[in-house]
Amino acid sequence: MRQILVTSALPYANGPIHLGHMVEHIQTDIWVRAMKAQGHQVTYVCADDAHGTSIMLKAHENGISPEDHIAAVRDSHETDFAKFLIHYDNYYTTHSDENREFSELIYRRLSSAGHISTRDVEQLFDPEKQLFLADRFVKGECPKCAAENQYGDNCEVCGTTYNATELKNPYSTLSGAEPVLKTSKHYFFDLPEFSEFLQQWTRDEGRLQPSIANKLQEWFDAGLASWDISRDAPYFGFKIPDTPADEPDKYFYVWLDAPVGYMASFKNLCEQRRGSTDPAKPELNFDDYWLAENQHKTEVYHFIGKDIVYFHALFWPAMLSGSEFRTPTSVFAHGFLMVNGDKMSKSRGTFIKAKTFTEHLQPEYLRYYFASKLSDKVEDFNLDFDDFIQKVNSDLVGKVVNIASRSAGFINKKFDGVLSSNNAEPELLADITRTGDEIAAAYENREFSKAMRLIMQCADKANEYIDAKKPWSMAKVEGSEQDVQDVCTVAINIFRQLMVYLAPVLPELTDNAKAFLNIDDLSFASRHQLLLGHQINKFKPLMQRVEQSQIDAIIEASKESLESTEQPSPTSEQAAQAASSPSSSALLPSDSDSSDIDSVDYISIEDFAKVEMTVAKVMECNHIEGADKLLQFTLDVGEDKPRNVFSGIRKFYEPKDLQGKKVICITNLAPRKMKFGVSEGMILSSGDPKTGLTVITLPEACQVGDKLG
Ligand code: MSP
Ligand code: ZN
Repeated sequence: MRQILVTSALPYANGPIHLGHMVEHIQTDIWVRAMKAQGHQVTYVCADDAHGTSIMLKAHENGISPEDHIAAVRDSHETDFAKFLIHYDNYYTTHSDENREFSELIYRRLSSAGHISTRDVEQLFDPEKQLFLADRFVKGECPKCAAENQYGDNCEVCGTTYNATELKNPYSTLSGAEPVLKTSKHYFFDLPEFSEFLQQWTRDEGRLQPSIANKLQEWFDAGLASWDISRDAPYFGFKIPDTPADEPDKYFYVWLDAPVGYMASFKNLCEQRRGSTDPAKPELNFDDYWLAENQHKTEVYHFIGKDIVYFHALFWPAMLSGSEFRTPTSVFAHGFLMVNGDKMSKSRGTFIKAKTFTEHLQPEYLRYYFASKLSDKVEDFNLDFDDFIQKVNSDLVGKVVNIASRSAGFINKKFDGVLSSNNAEPELLADITRTGDEIAAAYENREFSKAMRLIMQCADKANEYIDAKKPWSMAKVEGSEQDVQDVCTVAINIFRQLMVYLAPVLPELTDNAKAFLNIDDLSFASRHQLLLGHQINKFKPLMQRVEQSQIDAIIEASKESLESTEQPSPTSEQAAQAASSPSSSALLPSDSDSSDIDSVDYISIEDFAKVEMTVAKVMECNHIEGADKLLQFTLDVGEDKPRNVFSGIRKFYEPKDLQGKKVICITNLAPRKMKFGVSEGMILSSGDPKTGLTVITLPEACQVGDKLG
């Protein structure tokens, strides 16, 4: 029996789980279930990635401690993943004792082997917030094309990559202050020393996908740089041990302890399982999976997105091999999810949170759709909602479930739910059993789209068979009872095999099918047993069709949630790393939150002319119970009825400050349903929702109801 440990990348504890994350966790979960169904001992662990500047700032913004913040986020992440039927053996956090211990241990081993050095680094520093600014927290004019408001790592207008210190007129996105240059001592991990080891390691058979290995070769050719693993206070993370007592504390950069979180989550699970006698939750031995000497005893696989290859295929194996631990067997990278042919976009309502999806649709639909798209390649892929509806309805409802619903009725009504004891089509059934070998291999090779194709071909064969035999016509002919029972028995047996094949993708549906079929095993091996002379239960519909209106509701809700929730803040940490690795590559570590979101959609002058700006008078302004960002306004805009408008300025105004003021209201904005009611317009203000907003007020002489332009 193979012993396999599997991980998905640890989601940052600074924002909600979205469908992009779900790609990875669904992919991993399907693989884990498929490998378990083939009889291997598979352990799947994950955790929240809880450290770093972004998380610290997010907690501060919400007025809570980082510990409370990460606990709440972890809770919501676990809830979302559970709804999507992702079954971890352990979901932990990187802010744990185990993780601190392993991070320190690895660091100490690297340090005593001479792999750590220190060097002074000059960096931009926010004099108001008193912290060093990662690239994503600095903006200014592009040094090349002078475009304004560009981040500290690269220009979104002309594409140039530069250092944050090269920006013209830089400002801190945290305080607006002009950053100053400040020097501090940093700790570096000597990655170049591992260059030879890594070149071999990345070329080992089965270690990486070919396209990834080729990309890495480019990085090797460009030469590896040593890796800055320290950050200055204030920082939310682990202190670096053994630093000189008379020097300021240093913290591990979040990416140092993040992958160690895989080990820590597993270690925590080993403790939970100690002494377990439950065969479904076997005892696990940490050393078997992580000591260098056990490299070939067990297998370790990391599922990751293409943006974090650098960390998993270079830093992580180098850290492990430098500290006497085993390295991963393989790293499996996947591409990025697009929605309706584009990057996920808040303005188009395609930045879809996992939670929003589950509020309108059964998660298994998405599991199937992703399975039908995923392969072992690193390509991006598209969630096209028309295609989604068509696939789910025609494959799952129209083909698969239909096989059972067409044949179960006869068995239940005419034969008291008992299947025939004849196998009337041994060839057909053997054919579908044989296809199971190919399907199992496709799962193991992460060629899920191929597996789904093979399964649907089997479903087609079953439906063709039923169409040809027409049990509904047979049933009318006297003396054909046996034939009807035989045909439906064949169909039900094929259906059972399809349930075996689909179980990794549709665990809930196939569980319900188990109840209907009155069986308790859907392992891959079980497909060889035929159900003959076997009692089945009443058939209940296993899956409903997807309706367009449900998709519309998801898109609408994703637009609405813009103002009522926080935007994910940029994760500075990965972007900061980009500067130290070769540029111009889709595989570069990047700020995955912000790369998911399109930044500016330019509009034409005609579009601008459509915006109706109206002089409005604040009749009433109130706090809203439970809303920490919004104020509620009742506005006179010169119409018969006043308008109700919400504005996200609560942090900057007391209601009385705005009472009676004349303001500008966008009056032809489509009404938006928000958590606290419908907003019928938008009040214009200037500034940054993070650092301060000023409502634009108009002179008394302006007439309520007049248009601006
Ligand atoms: N915290 C790090 C990972 C540390 S692992 C030791 C991180 N977190 S993340 O929340 O930004 O991303 C988590 C995973 O989700 C990454 O593998 C990332 O590639 C993946 N995805 C994020 N957005 C995605 C899409 N739009 N599409 C597919 N995967 C995406 O990176
Ligand atoms: Zn530029």
